[in-house]
Amino acid sequence: MSVFTSIDQQSQATSREARFKTLADAKLIRSASRDSTVIDTPGQDLLDALDFVDASNFVDASNFVEASDFVEAMAAAVTGVNVITTDGPSGRFGLTVSAMCSVSADPPTVLACIHRKSPVRPAILRNQVFCVNVLSTRQHHLASTFSGIAETGHAYDFAAARWEHGDTGAPRLVDAVANFDCLLESTNEAGSHTIFIGRVTTALRKSGKPLLYTDRHYGLPLTWD
Ligand SMILES: Cc1cc2nc3c(=O)[nH]c(=O)nc-3n(C[C@H](O)[C@H](O)[C@H](O)COP(=O)(O)O)c2cc1C
Repeated sequence: MSVFTSIDQQSQATSREARFKTLADAKLIRSASRDSTVIDTPGQDLLDALDFVDASNFVDASNFVEASDFVEAMAAAVTGVNVITTDGPSGRFGLTVSAMCSVSADPPTVLACIHRKSPVRPAILRNQVFCVNVLSTRQHHLASTFSGIAETGHAYDFAAARWEHGDTGAPRLVDAVANFDCLLESTNEAGSHTIFIGRVTTALRKSGKPLLYTDRHYGLPLTWD
């Protein structure tokens, strides 16, 4: 009998506490199994079985917020606006992404979240490189172009701006307020999105003010200095 079966049986438990406990146990078993000190136990079969376990099976869905409420509340968050680019064997792609942030300064690392159905996802996975181009307040038209709604010209058309080759080969936006050339370090699947973690090879700060996005509108930073 595999641990998969026993977790499955536990998931029949009726109380909420039991279900959460089962989820926590599954995570603990999974992380312990990946510890190199216990690599021989319980073996690859268990790892494969645990990878197959969908954690959401163990959790009472009524404990979680509706996606629409989540999206509504998240609209109040303030973000920058970036065009994530890639180039290589899978070709050249660009996508407007607000879900980008610093992960670590030592070593310099960033993350970007991209929808799993976006064609940019397989392109970055194959190209193994990407560039984060932080847009300026003068570049909201590029945010539209690379989100598929071109104000002028064609959607996703690189002719809308000036680019140079970054040191990874991914297109670097010349007039961005910042560029981060990245080698793909790892990925994580999280719900509808893939988290791309990139090790930064070059970081450039240029002139200009960063474009903001909040309440489904672009905005300008107002700073007290
Ligand atoms: C301001 C803004 C921020 C966005 N942020 C993200 C993001 O963080 N991740 C993502 O996958 N898509 C993001 N999108 C959506 C994509 O840019 C694009 O619109 C979406 O993939 C739909 O493309 P399609 O309909 O042309 O396939 C954002 C769009 C806008 C306008």
